[in-house]
Amino acid sequence: MKVLVIGSGGREHALVWKLRQSEGVEQVYCVPGNGGIAREVTCLSADLKNIKALAELAESLRADLTVVGPEAPLVAGIADEFERRKLPIFGPNRAAAQLEGSKIFSKQFMRRHGIPTADFTVCDNEQTGLADLGRWGGPLVIKADGLAAGKGVVVCANRNEAEKTLHSILSGELVGEAGRKVLLEEKLSGEEVSFLVLTDGKTAVPLAPTQDHKQVWDDDRGPNTGGMGAYSDDGILSPSLTQRVIDEVVSRTIEGLRAEGITYKGLLYCGLMITADGPKVLEYNVRFGDPETQPLMLRLQGDLAQTLLAIANGELRSSMVSWKTGSSVCVVACSAGYPGEYASGKTIGGLSEAEADGAKVFHAGTAAKNGEIVTAGGRVLGISAAGSDLAAATAAAYEATAKIHFDGMHYRRDIARKGLQRVRPL
Ligand code: AMP
Ligand code: GLY
Repeated sequence: MKVLVIGSGGREHALVWKLRQSEGVEQVYCVPGNGGIAREVTCLSADLKNIKALAELAESLRADLTVVGPEAPLVAGIADEFERRKLPIFGPNRAAAQLEGSKIFSKQFMRRHGIPTADFTVCDNEQTGLADLGRWGGPLVIKADGLAAGKGVVVCANRNEAEKTLHSILSGELVGEAGRKVLLEEKLSGEEVSFLVLTDGKTAVPLAPTQDHKQVWDDDRGPNTGGMGAYSDDGILSPSLTQRVIDEVVSRTIEGLRAEGITYKGLLYCGLMITADGPKVLEYNVRFGDPETQPLMLRLQGDLAQTLLAIANGELRSSMVSWKTGSSVCVVACSAGYPGEYASGKTIGGLSEAEADGAKVFHAGTAAKNGEIVTAGGRVLGISAAGSDLAAATAAAYEATAKIHFDGMHYRRDIARKGLQRVRPL
């Protein structure tokens, strides 16, 4: 079996790494990949915006399966194009991808199907927005409707900030076209959990629970990033809360989509806030999370390629997915300045030393240059390790991280701390 993976981040490196372990897989290709992925498989260049060219590439490689990492090609309809050409693809079609492509679509969908989420209103001009602000008593979150690479969400501390945010989104200043419409949302409090499920539109198989760390500094301080680290541990969610998430969120979502004539095939990422009233959906993503995928791949048992192909063919069975006991942790090492402007081209040292004791370094923003690996992005590496429990996995991930160095490298020192301090699961 030949598999083509689309994308260039740590998530894609983790998927490539796991796909290569599948028995029937003879070759994995990646477009465009990165410096680390290119050390393991053949990387090809292509314009990810050109869906027809990607389909032609899959045809010319005779790929038996294409796995899509990032959301943009899915929102643009890559799965529809592949299905027209009878090319097996893992990832939802354009109609289903609206769950991530339009935050307003996804909130209205949740409202139609009784899926618990924060209260909200929608607006497309400042005048009604300002009037709406007056009606909201408490703290607010303002979100651009369209894809904005994580930059379109602002948690507003006060009315003044809300007014400024409304203006900067609707004027196009903050995120351009993606901000033509905005959501005003009730601010929820609680702990965030990433709940990912694999589904072929009929059967849904939850992955082990994970937790991301969005803010750049320890103790959840500073601006939001793409994710500074993640861990997987069964103790994140209790069995009863897991069942509630499956009943109130996952089943209602998949059935709601079906009722609207949409078959969801791929990975459905439910970003949850566990509030005092139970789990509520903050957002859906229509693809694997980054960095959640890195610790998940370290714990996943079973044949990933066969599972993703079964989803493409509508034949998913829950027995295909199981988990190693224990835990896993991924620490993201970033470039100086990230999540703002950052430097690139810094030589990375210590990569093989970091893997000496069983850790795995997934590359994100890296490139190969004159036989060396250099930085080429904000999030550079996801240094990952599994262990018999969360303490062991965390210690192993940080021991490996300590062996890596590049100019300006920074990372959070408290990845998994919430899990380590938890007395009982949420
Ligand atoms: P989103 O892209 O919609 O998940 O938002 C990014 C981040 O903003 C989330 O991971 C939360 O940390 C925060 N956030 C989003 N919506 C809310 C909300 N309604 N209440 C509190 N925090 C939120
Ligand atoms: N880790 C958050 C995301 O993948 O969107």
